[in-house]
Amino acid sequence: MKIKLPGQVSYIIGELEKHGFEAYAVGGCVRDSILGRIPDDWDITTSAKPEQVKEIFQKTIDTGIEHGTVTVMIEREGYEVTTYRIDGEYEDSRHPKEVVFTSNLVEDLKRRDFTINAMAYSDKSGLIDVFDGIGDMNRKMIRCVGRAKERFSEDALRILRAVRFAAQLKFQIDKETKEAIKELAVNLHNISAERIQTELVKLLVSEEPERIREAYELGITKVILPEFDAMMTCTQENIHHMYTVGEHTVQALLHIENDKVLRLAVLLHDVGKPEKKTIDEVGTAHFYGHAKRGAEIAKDILKRLKFDNDTLYKVLKLVELHDNRPSLKKSSIKRLAVKSGTELFPELMKVKRADTLAQSLYMREEKLAYLDKISELYQEIVESEDCIQIKDLKINGKDLIELGVPQGKKIGVILSDIFEMILDEPEKNTKEYLSGYVRGKYLDGM
Ligand code: CTP
Repeated sequence: MKIKLPGQVSYIIGELEKHGFEAYAVGGCVRDSILGRIPDDWDITTSAKPEQVKEIFQKTIDTGIEHGTVTVMIEREGYEVTTYRIDGEYEDSRHPKEVVFTSNLVEDLKRRDFTINAMAYSDKSGLIDVFDGIGDMNRKMIRCVGRAKERFSEDALRILRAVRFAAQLKFQIDKETKEAIKELAVNLHNISAERIQTELVKLLVSEEPERIREAYELGITKVILPEFDAMMTCTQENIHHMYTVGEHTVQALLHIENDKVLRLAVLLHDVGKPEKKTIDEVGTAHFYGHAKRGAEIAKDILKRLKFDNDTLYKVLKLVELHDNRPSLKKSSIKRLAVKSGTELFPELMKVKRADTLAQSLYMREEKLAYLDKISELYQEIVESEDCIQIKDLKINGKDLIELGVPQGKKIGVILSDIFEMILDEPEKNTKEYLSGYVRGKYLDGM
């Protein structure tokens, strides 16, 4: 097996070898190269101790020197070079409590999470695959190195990583590995929100976001996202639906592009439903107010998982507005666009479409035609440059002051009033008309 290493990686490995050490590309980069995927980064493992690595290369950074990692800088590009090590027990972070260096590559590979992540490669020695990572790749299998329970006890994040890799690579999870996940999933409680967030997002934006269902079946979401479990058990006795809220969500994920905000919004769009469910006298389920409540729950979830404010803002807006159904009049569509903001409006339409495609077949064609019509009318609104933000008005606060309106709160009130009028009657958005309007209504015809 030959892997084409980037020139700088070959150089680093060559230099280490020249000084009498062993060195290999290792982990994710080897896995991705063999699978024909482009590696995110190239990690190097070596028998040289951190101090020895630092002596060989001109420019290095002590990234995690106590854990054996030195970043070697070549032409402003950094490569992590880590000394072969045997890990002690892991703490909450991605770093183990204590690290013991070793001169044996196999000892280093043994501590890694999955067989497909435990292969090393150098041009000199070729592929080192002691745990049959290649066999598991051919079988499309995520399998722990050695005993699954030991690997997961060292670092519980690996439990979520198993599903994440399965989703990214379209692999299955090996039986023993699955059993260990079920038994130890509860330990995900000890893992930091930031690390969970990273893996959850990778799972969601993967080729198979529907594998969130497997995370549920294995008891993972119960620990990191119990709100999803509530959706999975919430039935929808309603002609518009044919799945539980959770399965509807999983199906909707299949109809939305692999963008972080969109996938999160779809994951959480109906998170308010379990709490808001009511059954009427004829046995039909209703979920009044679920979008608003959903946005509140989504906020708690995203904050708990330490998402950034920009993601939070966008996802919450999409959840809150996903069930909004404007009439097919430009003024109603404009009002919705005012609520979403123009940047998010097209995204909102994508969420609504995915939602529709995961409902029952009842009136599906009509619902899709309705969404198409909204998009068409919105396009016309954008092209006509109709006013959809206060700043699109042909009159502003300064103009109002010049007309004689006193400075203060009233300026905002007047602008909102004008804005409401212009949403319905865009042809009145001229400075001349609006000046007259303000004079007549607010300045006693002055
Ligand atoms: N690793 C591990 N246990 C973890 C994290 C990482 O054993 N909890 C090992 C694996 O050998 C992994 C390597 O460290 O391949 C690098 O980890 P990381 O960069 O997190 O993941 P990659 O496998 O490179 O995958 P990706 O780039 O998709 O995150």
